[in-house]
Amino acid sequence: MTASSLPQVRRIAINTGGGDAPGLNAVIRAATLAALHEGWEVLGIRRGYMGLLEGDVDGEPGVFPLTANAVRGITHLGGTILGTTTRGNPFGLEVRQPDGTWGRVDRSDEIVQRCRELEIDALIAIGGDGSLNIAHALYQKGLPVIGVPKTIDNDLRATDVTFGFQTAVEVATDAIGRLHSTAEAHQRVMVVQLMGRHTGWIALQSGLAGGADVILIPEIPYHLDRIVEKVRERDRSRRRFSIIVVAEGARSADGEASFADASGRYGGIADRLAAEIGAATGKETRSLVLGHIQRGGEPIAYDRSLALRFGAAAVRCIREGSLGTMVALQGNDIRAVPLGDAVHDLKRVPPDSELVTTARQLGVSFGD
Ligand code: F6P
Repeated sequence: MTASSLPQVRRIAINTGGGDAPGLNAVIRAATLAALHEGWEVLGIRRGYMGLLEGDVDGEPGVFPLTANAVRGITHLGGTILGTTTRGNPFGLEVRQPDGTWGRVDRSDEIVQRCRELEIDALIAIGGDGSLNIAHALYQKGLPVIGVPKTIDNDLRATDVTFGFQTAVEVATDAIGRLHSTAEAHQRVMVVQLMGRHTGWIALQSGLAGGADVILIPEIPYHLDRIVEKVRERDRSRRRFSIIVVAEGARSADGEASFADASGRYGGIADRLAAEIGAATGKETRSLVLGHIQRGGEPIAYDRSLALRFGAAAVRCIREGSLGTMVALQGNDIRAVPLGDAVHDLKRVPPDSELVTTARQLGVSFGD
């Protein structure tokens, strides 16, 4: 749709889908205030698309007006005032069958229909790769959509950075830093598992900043013996402790399957590595999983500001008729990129990237 063919905008809606990330509320606030500034009405949809399919969500209206008052004072808040879900794909919603088993049903047409009934001229869908794929599919069905990239994993190719990532790195770096003193005091090996199913951005950035000795990421398969060698080498040079950072989706080079369960959730690699390293080195070894701490709490200033910029840019896209796009940070600019390109493939850590090279120059082992 071009700017000239865009009908006059009167009402937009906003939703948040998939796992939360620090900065969601800042996007909601910026988009709402910018839209109100244009003279448009703004609706909030609860729990992804569920608010459109169900009149009430948890006893509250599924769709409700976002006023200036409703978004007051939320820039710094974690989570999302709209709620979210990782089980709300309208193209395949889980439903209990009469025989008690679970099946899937496609309710995407109802979403498009409901948005028409509510006279929503454009939807700002804030999400990661899964949610943006859904948004793109809805756009192809005729729903005017603008995507806003969110994920702590930072694995969306079309944008240099997603909001939420830097906060997660900050939290993880702090945790890695705290492990040093206890690891050194006990001469232990500490294995810390960070989020990152398909990509190792959080592990790489926080491992580097936090002074990890070994960083294991999905993009660089590891050999256990190389990790063991690194720990022994440190022992020989009287640094009798080691910090090993492992992304949850890391995998060994021997072709073993990753640590994902049937639903695609990851867990267990840190425990397993700690046991293997302990057995091979004879050193006391401990593991911990930082988990959702990386996603919770207040966004740092960088993520607040990026999220505010994304929210305002999404409104500019609607004003200019640039629909079916996603706002993206490219260099210092916020640009609109086609949603289809944005969800095309993931941004993985290039094994020969400058960040990886820098870490290697500092003596960090990637277990390869
Ligand atoms: O994609 C974001 C993310 O935090 C991943 O890093 C992690 O694997 C996943 O979500 C966890 O999902 P859930 O909150 O559903 O357990």
